[in-house]
Order: sequence, then structure tokens, then C-alpha cells
Amino acid sequence: MKIVVLGSGAIGSLYGAFLSTVPNNEVILVGRNPHVAAIRSKGLTIKGVMGEHTFHLRAVDDASEVEYADLILLTTKTYDTLSAALSARHLINNGTYIMLIQNGLGTEELVAEVLKTKRVLRATTCMGALRPSPGLVIATGCGLTEIGSRYPENYEFVEGIAEMLKNGGFEVRSSKNIEGVVWTKTLVNAGINPVGALTGFTNGEVYKNPKLRELVIQLVEEAVKIVDTLGIELTTEDPVRYTLGTAKATGNNINSMLQDLRAGKKTEIDSITGEIIRLGKELG
Ligand code: PAF
Repeated sequence: MKIVVLGSGAIGSLYGAFLSTVPNNEVILVGRNPHVAAIRSKGLTIKGVMGEHTFHLRAVDDASEVEYADLILLTTKTYDTLSAALSARHLINNGTYIMLIQNGLGTEELVAEVLKTKRVLRATTCMGALRPSPGLVIATGCGLTEIGSRYPENYEFVEGIAEMLKNGGFEVRSSKNIEGVVWTKTLVNAGINPVGALTGFTNGEVYKNPKLRELVIQLVEEAVKIVDTLGIELTTEDPVRYTLGTAKATGNNINSMLQDLRAGKKTEIDSITGEIIRLGKELG
């Protein structure tokens, strides 16, 4: 299978690298320089919880250099989804699937609309990864990848991809309730990330501070009203407890929004908290 990874940052590079170990896969990373240039000259090195390996993969800084894809992994930050989808138009034929591995809400609909296809899959990931220097990715934590599609006609393909990801070394679960999966993860992100980002605290420091913990609870409870109004079935019975449990379990983490702020990058607040606010207004 020819797999093209659009947005080969830390997470995209990690998934691309391990999928390239599955027989009959060819993986091409599309990313930015100097990361792409480093991969071309000395390979992609992955260290951390998945062991230490160097992968020699094709890497390009412009999707137009690639002719087609059987599977596109879209792993950009959410605010780059539209430009990534537009750059992928020529890669798509009647059989191409697109799988989004992202945080937040609303991106599958956008991709399906822009690329005029329902062959769209969605995954959430609890893998942690950092890219401290070009050509190097550190896997900081191993967690579940959940995968599904809002379009039932894709279920069989979802199962195949789940199997392929397992063969690549990932812990994977397929779900027929991907909306519930995505919302459950989004509640965690809406509760923890802005609070950590605004205070500069690790997830554990947020968890241990009674006032901040109360704020996390309020944020999750408010968002749950939207989940209930939409009739979405979460994958946890107690989203508040689940969010606090995640904050505790990932206590040493600097959440991704705080990492973005510290790196001077845009954050994904619009597709997490922003979407919740937008829906809240829309639903009254
Ligand atoms: O965005 C993040 O950083 C993570 O999703 C999580 C679970 C909040 C852990 O830091």
C-alpha cells in the first residue's frame, strides 16, 4: 500500500516510520525543512518508548512531488487541515482513503467536503511524541490509537487499517462510535489543555491544584451539555473522572497546547474549545 503522510511532524513521522515496517507498504513523508532535509541525508531516527531505530524513507517538502496515494495519513495541526487537504487533491483516485490523526472537532467534515469523498477515516491517539531536532523523533509515551469512520461503508477498511497499525507495533482499537471517541478525547483536551496553557502548569500540577481542578471540572461539565444535546454516546460513563484521571496519569506532561505556546506556534484552541463554544451557541 502506498501511504503518504501529510504533516510529518513528530506524530506523523512516528506513524509513517512504523507503518513502513509492515510488508508491502511504501511510505512517503511530506513535511517541512529542515526535518525533511535531515531525513533525506541521514534517515529518520526514532528513540524512546518504541526503541531506537533509524528509518530510511522517502521524504519531500511538497506534496506535488508525489503522484498518488492508496492511503493518506493527515497528521497536521488542525488549523492546517484545509491547506493540507487542498495540497492532496492530485493524490486521490477512486480508491484512495484519507485517515486523520488529529485532535479536535470538525476536520473530517472539512476534508470530506474539500476532497469530495466519503473515504475518510478518523483516529485519535494517546501516543506522545516530540521532535527535538530535525530528523529525530522521541516517542515519549505509548497509548491507544482508536480508529473509525463516520461513514459506515468504510468499516471494513477501518478493520484492515487497524490490523496494519497493530502489525506496525501500535496498540489499536477500532470503533463504530468514532464520534464518541473523538468527543471523549476532546473533552479531555478542553478540560486540561487551556488550563495548563494559561497557567504554564504540567497536567499533574493542574490536577493537584484544587481551584484549577474545579475549573477543569466546570469546563468538562459545560461541554458535556453539548454532547448530551447532540445525542453523542461518550466512551466513558464519567467524563469528569476520566479527564481528571488522564491529568493524573499524564502528570509529567506539558500538554500539547502549552508546548505550542512555548514554541511560539499557533494552538489548536479553535478546534477544541472554539468548536465547543460554536456548537453551544448553535444549539442554544
Ligand atoms: O493534548 C495533550 O497534551 C494530550 O491530549 C493530553 C491527554 C491532554 C495529555 O497531555
